[in-house]
Amino acid sequence: MVTIATSIESQIRLNDGVEMPKFGLGVYQSPKGEETEMSVMHSLKHKYRMIDTAEIYRNEDDCGRAIRKSGIPRKDIFLVTKLWENGAKSCQSHFTNSLERLGLDYVDMYLIHSPKGKKIVETYKAMLEIKAQGRIRSVGVSNFGVHHLQGLEQAGLPPPSVNQIELHPWQRKEDIVAYCQQKGIHLMAYSPLARGKHFGDKDLVKLAQKYNKTEAQVLVRWCVQHGFIVIPKSTSPKRIEENADVFDFSIDKEDMNFLDNLPEKSVGWNPCVEPWEG
Ligand SMILES: NC(=O)c1ccc[n+]([C@@H]2O[C@H](COP(=O)([O-])OP(=O)(O)OC[C@H]3O[C@@H](n4cnc5c(N)ncnc54)[C@H](OP(=O)(O)O)[C@@H]3O)[C@@H](O)[C@H]2O)c1
Repeated sequence: MVTIATSIESQIRLNDGVEMPKFGLGVYQSPKGEETEMSVMHSLKHKYRMIDTAEIYRNEDDCGRAIRKSGIPRKDIFLVTKLWENGAKSCQSHFTNSLERLGLDYVDMYLIHSPKGKKIVETYKAMLEIKAQGRIRSVGVSNFGVHHLQGLEQAGLPPPSVNQIELHPWQRKEDIVAYCQQKGIHLMAYSPLARGKHFGDKDLVKLAQKYNKTEAQVLVRWCVQHGFIVIPKSTSPKRIEENADVFDFSIDKEDMNFLDNLPEKSVGWNPCVEPWEG
């Protein structure tokens, strides 16, 4: 069932029983160091309660420092990070390294960053083992196509709690979305602003003017109305606040329909189409 977030504090119950915020801050390409620490702290001050990082972003330590400095109880912040190098052994060691860099005792969600290459089944099993030890609360995946999700199912494994994929009006991945919704796997929308590539498009500008919002807010709101968990990235304090100010308007049916029919074009990589290699 698709539930629409009604505030920045809205939570969703995942298929493993864990509750997570439906809105958070992405930190990909957020530079290593003080700038990321400050932007994470700024987001937490403005009621963001979920941070999406990854070992490959090289800023886990900055996120961890910001979380500790924020004064917000650890249990009230939802930290997502991702494993870059698949394999059971690398999962164990890379996870321990991530925890150390974060300076935390556990992560709320650990994702297989991509299904590229082999060893997905053993990686997933290793993540479930760490979860059983209490050091991961929820295990999910990223950039998985339908055939990858079916591969996990055919291996007799429980479904991931989320599938984090590129989602915005120019990248709707309808087959993956439909499959995940049918299987109770929550969608987490990355690059929800399409990395700014469509800012200035006349139709998007028109919609922003119609709703008296910014183009970024229209795009975040599109994700919210589709029931996606959404993680816009910004290091600008003003834009961090702006991106969260999307819960006081709604895009009408006709305009959603327009956005749902734009020509598709990815703004990033697309490992969803990689072959399944087990
Ligand atoms: N799993 C994966 O493979 C994967 C891949 C990509 C992304 N992600 C996750 O998803 C998050 C978001 O995706 P993303 O970083 O690719 O792109 P995004 O959130 O779509 O866009 C970020 C870009 O938009 C700018 N921006 C942010 N808010 C704005 C606003 N209100 N007005 C104008 N410009 C604005 C940012 O610049 P400023 O910082 O200067 O504001 C940045 O250049 C990432 O940070 C990461 O956590 C995951």
